[in-house]
Amino acid sequence: MRFLKRAWIWVDDVTGISAAMTPLLEHPVPKARKSAWLYVLGSATLVAFLIQIVTGIALASGYVASAGQAYDTLKFISGTDFGRIVRGMHAFGASAMIILIGLHAIRVYVMAAYKYPRQMNWLTGAALLMLTLLMAFTGQLLRWDQTGFWSVMIAAAQAGKTPIIGNWMGHFIMAGDTVGGATLSRFFAAHVFFIPALIFLFVGFHLYLVLHNGISEPPEAGRPVDPKTYRSWYRALLARDGEPFWPDAAWRDVVFAFLLVAAVVALAVIVGPPELGKPPDPTIVEASPRPEWYFLWYFAVLSLIPKWSEDWVIILGPALFIAALILIPLVASKGERSPFRRPWSFVIVAFIIFVIAYYGAVGKIAPWSPRMDASPLSVQVVGSSSGPVADGAKLFHDKGCEYCHLVSGYGGIRGPDLTYAGDTMTPAQMTTRIYSGGTNMPSYNGNLTPDQLSALLAFLSSRHRQPVLPIPENQ
Ligand code: HEC
Repeated sequence: MRFLKRAWIWVDDVTGISAAMTPLLEHPVPKARKSAWLYVLGSATLVAFLIQIVTGIALASGYVASAGQAYDTLKFISGTDFGRIVRGMHAFGASAMIILIGLHAIRVYVMAAYKYPRQMNWLTGAALLMLTLLMAFTGQLLRWDQTGFWSVMIAAAQAGKTPIIGNWMGHFIMAGDTVGGATLSRFFAAHVFFIPALIFLFVGFHLYLVLHNGISEPPEAGRPVDPKTYRSWYRALLARDGEPFWPDAAWRDVVFAFLLVAAVVALAVIVGPPELGKPPDPTIVEASPRPEWYFLWYFAVLSLIPKWSEDWVIILGPALFIAALILIPLVASKGERSPFRRPWSFVIVAFIIFVIAYYGAVGKIAPWSPRMDASPLSVQVVGSSSGPVADGAKLFHDKGCEYCHLVSGYGGIRGPDLTYAGDTMTPAQMTTRIYSGGTNMPSYNGNLTPDQLSALLAFLSSRHRQPVLPIPENQ
């Protein structure tokens, strides 16, 4: 004991830790009273991020970011008790971080805490929100199973449709013309080095600003922010009615942090990590390419709006959202903070939550996601049981075409109905489409042998709008 005490005195003496930390811990903050628990969301987001750092480092030390090994190493990690829990914590921690940063942003928005002098607090927070979403997006692919693979494939294909900069963007995201080993390396570097470094930087800046400007006081109707007098008013408020951050206010952050970690660990143990799908094979759609819940609503919105607008919405939607985030503290930097004097803030928040919940639910059951359970086309539908047409029909199922295309009522409806493909397209046109892919259709270039391609063409070209003769029964 005495040794520890002496050791601490020495460390403190040579580093000046307590001299530096005491003012940070004990700086006065406004009493929040009724809304006090709402103030834990920011620190809870940070705790979720720390969970991700710790579990992420553990995962990275067993994971090989190469197209050939990523899936197997994850499978290995998931097979051990410890690895299973760590992966589960990383997955639930990701959801927790997104929920908490979202709620934190909503709290700050509804209470208008972004007004003078905390505009930069908001802007750095907005950057952190975007970086968190980027983490979620890049993390999906690292799973390197069908779900992660297809989600990124479709996202990249959609980004590629953006007017003007689409080509460049699709290329940048995929690190090439298609999702492959290079994409995995790029996403791994972004997910593990680049984006976390930026998050650390912005978290530091954000926390510095929280200390510099002080924690916002709970808003009150009829007490508008006036930049000229705010700072002196705030100082007087702290002198009159402040409390030291530690322990008077911070005990709630500590309690909530413990509950959060306990919940993430419990979910990881009980529910476990998301099931690894089948290994990725660009030519077979074996898993439903539904992204994680936090992006699902956006996929659903994109698939439900008119086709012509999709290319614009995919880039304009996020661009407008980011622009709004940047403009909010700049155009509304003073005036009333109370949400009851800014009732539309409730409307906007309700609208955002509705879109995410409703379209997320739509996305879960949407017909636009490939139909995985389509069974091979029957001889009746194909019209023959051997020869190139029958071979093509079999490939049509085995290569996943049927998951997206209807033939005589069988298959999925993500792509056009191909029942009468022979009437509408020449084999050359079909070849172009199959090799180059399209909106929501993967490119099969390099994934079909010449024989397989000609069998597929034979099958598709045999599809004509003819009266279907009943097969005579006893002849
Ligand atoms: C992930 C879903 C998906 C898969 C798998 C898929 N397609 Fe498609 N396909 C589509 C979509 C969506 C379109 C429309 C693309 C466009 O217009 O840009 C399309 C278009 C086509 C067309 C052109 C149809 C027309 O009327 O313009 C053909 C032919 C076609 N696909 C054949 C195939 C074949 C053959 C396979 C399997 C080797 C296949 N598709 C696999 C989704 C898919």
